Amino acid sequence: MAFVADRLSAVKPSATIAVTQKARDLTAAGRDVISLGAGEPDFDTPAHIIEAAKKALDDGYTRYTATNGLPELQEAIVAKFKRDNGLDYTTSQIHVSCGGKPVIFNAFMATINPGDEIVIPAPYWVSYPDMAAMFGGVPVFVDCPADSGFKLTAEQLDAAITPKTKWVMLNSPSNPSGAAYTEADLKALAEVLLRHPHVWVLTDDIYEHIVYDGFEFKTIAQVEPALWERTLTMNGVSKAYCMTGWRVGFAGGPDELIKAMTKVQSQSISHTAAVSQVASIAALNGPHDFIAEHNRVFKERRDLVVSMLNQAPGLHCPTPEGAFYVYPSCEGTLGKTTEAGQKIETDEDFVTALIEAEGVAAVHGTAFGLAPHFRISSATATELLEDACARIQRFCASLR
Ligand SMILES: Cc1ncc(COP(=O)(O)O)c(C=O)c1O
Repeated sequence: MAFVADRLSAVKPSATIAVTQKARDLTAAGRDVISLGAGEPDFDTPAHIIEAAKKALDDGYTRYTATNGLPELQEAIVAKFKRDNGLDYTTSQIHVSCGGKPVIFNAFMATINPGDEIVIPAPYWVSYPDMAAMFGGVPVFVDCPADSGFKLTAEQLDAAITPKTKWVMLNSPSNPSGAAYTEADLKALAEVLLRHPHVWVLTDDIYEHIVYDGFEFKTIAQVEPALWERTLTMNGVSKAYCMTGWRVGFAGGPDELIKAMTKVQSQSISHTAAVSQVASIAALNGPHDFIAEHNRVFKERRDLVVSMLNQAPGLHCPTPEGAFYVYPSCEGTLGKTTEAGQKIETDEDFVTALIEAEGVAAVHGTAFGLAPHFRISSATATELLEDACARIQRFCASLR
């Protein structure tokens, strides 16, 4: 009898973490590798946030807090939802955890019974299906290809819903495609959801602030207030505030759900670190002007990468509305052979041959549920990105 629990048999380790590790291993072995696998900004946490954290330690924020964090943090989150999203929550309707990821984990643990279905538009963030599977949830994938902007349509949503549907996952701007839902897109999805009152929505808005070309971010409970009572609006400080390592994520939702998630957390991690909570208060309540400056750099890089990849034979790279990823198709390279004699049949073959030939680490689209694509994170220094894209061009041109 295996020692490891059966529930883990349906769970894969994170492919994005695996790629980053492979890049690290190759670098340690002396190879010149550019890693475009990571999903974190390359900017440092802004100084005023670090200062707030240093002061917090001196002020004695070194002890346990409530499961959902310090009252000041809950108030800062309530204010954030009101300010940025026009959403009304009370502090008892706020959940705080060690990042956006455990917020989703807690929501799933608190609500999924074996056999419950979770509608997941593909391409999706790698963790959704595996987290759902951990609790016996059944992911229902809906392919959202590039020609529909990588977005779920109302018709597709309607067709995917069954009496067993518990959650629909939305992620805008998306990891890995960078696609973002407009108000009209969300309104169309909301109309379907209004006809299916047993279905809840978990919207992962972690890239909310990272949008380009004047895109106006909206979240579904804002667009359709009647869905508020069955929506968990998830967000966090990791991406926009460059605070991935601080581990603070949060969500607003109806009392019953938040209570259930809090129960889960009270018997697991208890709460996120007090010092990180104080830093997050400084982030949410403090100046936000650095975000526009970061976005200017991200946009420059996005434009550079999209343009360079579209010049690589066999690749096609759509222009994302937000986040810091691009998700090009490598369909035009399939069936070709590398100089080392390796045949490229899948997007996984493509990224494996790419790292071997040119030392560029990217993540294959199959890991995100929509092939043949690969994901490049442009949260990497511009010179490195330029070098990486030149290597990708050379690699694609070398295929026969
Ligand atoms: C779409 C999406 N959701 C959630 C997360 C997790 O964020 P956190 O680091 O706050 O757990 C990530 C991080 O990569 C992400 O890309």
